[in-house]
Amino acid sequence: MRTNLTVLILMVLLATPVAARQSARPPEAPVRYDGDHASADFHRGRRSALVASLPTGAVAVVLGGVEGGGSVDDLRSFHQDPYLYYLTGSEEPGSALLLAPEGVTVDGRTVREILFVPPRNPEMEIWLGRRFGAARAQRELGVEMALPNSRFEEVVGALVTGAGQQVLHLAFPAAVPPRTTLAQQIGVLRSLAAVRGADLDDTVLAASLDGMRMVKEPEEIRVLRRAVDVTVEAHREVLGAVSAGWKEYEIEALIEYTFHRLGAEEPAFPSIVGSGENTSMLHYETNRRTTQAGDLVVIDIGAKYRGYSADVTRTIPIDGRFTADQRAVYDIVLEAQRAGIEAASPGASFGAPGQAASRVLARGLARLGLIRSPTDGSGLQRFFPHGTSHYLGIEVHDVGSYDVLSPGQVITVEPGIYIAPAPDIDPRWWNIGVRIEDDVLVTEAGPVVLSAGAPRDPEDIEEAMGARARAGGP
Ligand code: GLY
Ligand code: MN
Ligand code: MN
Repeated sequence: MRTNLTVLILMVLLATPVAARQSARPPEAPVRYDGDHASADFHRGRRSALVASLPTGAVAVVLGGVEGGGSVDDLRSFHQDPYLYYLTGSEEPGSALLLAPEGVTVDGRTVREILFVPPRNPEMEIWLGRRFGAARAQRELGVEMALPNSRFEEVVGALVTGAGQQVLHLAFPAAVPPRTTLAQQIGVLRSLAAVRGADLDDTVLAASLDGMRMVKEPEEIRVLRRAVDVTVEAHREVLGAVSAGWKEYEIEALIEYTFHRLGAEEPAFPSIVGSGENTSMLHYETNRRTTQAGDLVVIDIGAKYRGYSADVTRTIPIDGRFTADQRAVYDIVLEAQRAGIEAASPGASFGAPGQAASRVLARGLARLGLIRSPTDGSGLQRFFPHGTSHYLGIEVHDVGSYDVLSPGQVITVEPGIYIAPAPDIDPRWWNIGVRIEDDVLVTEAGPVVLSAGAPRDPEDIEEAMGARARAGGP
């Protein structure tokens, strides 16, 4: 029987053409499944703009983000360095970009840019996920040349030969775990300075890149709009669902579920869901309290979408209706925010929205008798202890000069009033904390509120929450 079977198999094998017997090459599975990142052309354009700004003779090296200690359980804590992401779209740890405007010859090819990437490693990829590897990174990220990061020292070392040769880089992170690729790359640059006398400079590159990142390209605005839209949708979900008795973390869960459902990678920062006495904690993020009838809830959230961050705050009454005192404070903050947004026009100073908002806040607080007069600066500081605006982009608090507003900048406008219980304050105001934050694109035609889809007028909030009550609640 066995002999017959062997004979049969042999006959089949002999009858099969050789080509068909060789195993077919399996198709390459995607490394990235999302198709709506900023394009390779966008990143290429950013590299060209940076190269055009470099001093003659300088080379630039942009290193990746700080890798974890190598724990297989902690992979998601890796965040790519924002500058490297901006220039390449690379999300892989252990990557680095070399820009050599005058050319560098490697393996007989002279190129002006090289992306170093972690090499393919099939055994590790079974555990850690697919990597591009050099050939595919070059193709899919659209860089002139990609090489395995094991060649960083050889290539950079051959390029940087002379004493005084300028090597531009960004400030090295303070704490880099030893034995990581990043630590090794920093070591290579430091030793080039120590041994060859290369001049390491961490100011030139940051100045150029911060200026570039401050003004968003159309592709960035497209991605940023998506991050904001997802965040707006999460706010809308909350309005349509919550009521007193929800835990803060249940609200957080609904928000972050919505982020993920709509394809965001993660929250851009820990979601802030502060109710009752937690409304006056600016970056409250423990989110453990159970909401109670009569509470306000400050909800400060942002999705990270294809590497770009949103940051939108709404303050809502958990019962679906503001009390008169809550409304008095809310209306002041809203008027201040409107004034701040209005001031976000090209040519205005970065501080203009904050000044406009602060004037309205101080006037309103004085009217309520909470501060002595509209010019009582320390009184205002007590109830509004943070800035009104920051840039928004890859990072939540994005880089830029923070001096003059210009078209293409995206800023937040986020005034607030926070009244913690205190003996010198009428208890009617206690635990009323309100922040309203929108994401605003500065244009020649005036400010464009990207997050306008999240109800902000008190009537609209009450209407959205009322619709929930009419639908029978959760
Ligand atoms: N969510 C942090 C901030 O508003 O700045
Ligand atoms: Mn903000
Ligand atoms: Mn915020």
